[in-house]
Amino acid sequence: MKQRTLIVGNWKMHLNVQQSSLLVSRLHEHIAMHRDIEVVLAPSLLSLQPISLEIDRRKFRLSAQDAFDADEGPQTGEVSFAMLEGLVHYSIIGHSARRIYFGETLQQVRDKMQACVRNKITPILCIGETKQERLAGETRRVLHDQLTTALTHLTAAEVADLVIAYEPVWAISTFQGEKSRPSDMQQAFVYIRDQVEALYGAKAAQAVRVLYGGSVDAHDAALYLELEDCDGVLVGAASLNYKQFSEIVNQAHVLNIKRKND
Ligand code: PGA
Repeated sequence: MKQRTLIVGNWKMHLNVQQSSLLVSRLHEHIAMHRDIEVVLAPSLLSLQPISLEIDRRKFRLSAQDAFDADEGPQTGEVSFAMLEGLVHYSIIGHSARRIYFGETLQQVRDKMQACVRNKITPILCIGETKQERLAGETRRVLHDQLTTALTHLTAAEVADLVIAYEPVWAISTFQGEKSRPSDMQQAFVYIRDQVEALYGAKAAQAVRVLYGGSVDAHDAALYLELEDCDGVLVGAASLNYKQFSEIVNQAHVLNIKRKND
């Protein structure tokens, strides 16, 4: 294992401030501090500030779920990455829900990546193909297009620091997805890393963290985490359940111990 396993909980548009706070205190009770695991929580924008005061930062890091690409301006209702600087360590960018519900384009994702990095926040870039694209044999083209556009303005050092979540849209519960077969995912991870290598060199490709972002729960997370090129998981629905999420973190830790001893 080259670096810490990353377990990200995307709470999506669930939980008000009070409910978020309750979940955080449950997670505090049930998740032990592991040096080999990095646990990241992505609550709603509204809950970020209060939660930042409640978490033990040695145990949890915070992520936004999205932000606007301009640093300031007349965009009523938006929050910029500049406003999030110092509050969050990460931001999810280009999540399939944003691309599908809000029609976020490749260019918008590219601009958000740039704004995110400009404001010293590490992007968790989500890429993945829909069911139709998969059936049409377009998976590689889609991943290639999403990746190359998103990374356009970044340097090799910025790419090395980045997190890429492969989220096959057909395997996400929000979209009534079917479960993917973990062993089938390995080739997508390898493809993503190969693309990064072709664009930014071997060092960036080795350092970039690639997560599985389709549906996982405590029953199958370990099957994805076991894959050679998988550096962690982006958990949706199961991250709202403290037992499931703690169990996923625990399984990742057990797996790392096993790897170390093998
Ligand atoms: P899910 O979502 O785990 O709820 O399927 C995954 C995601 O949207 O990242």
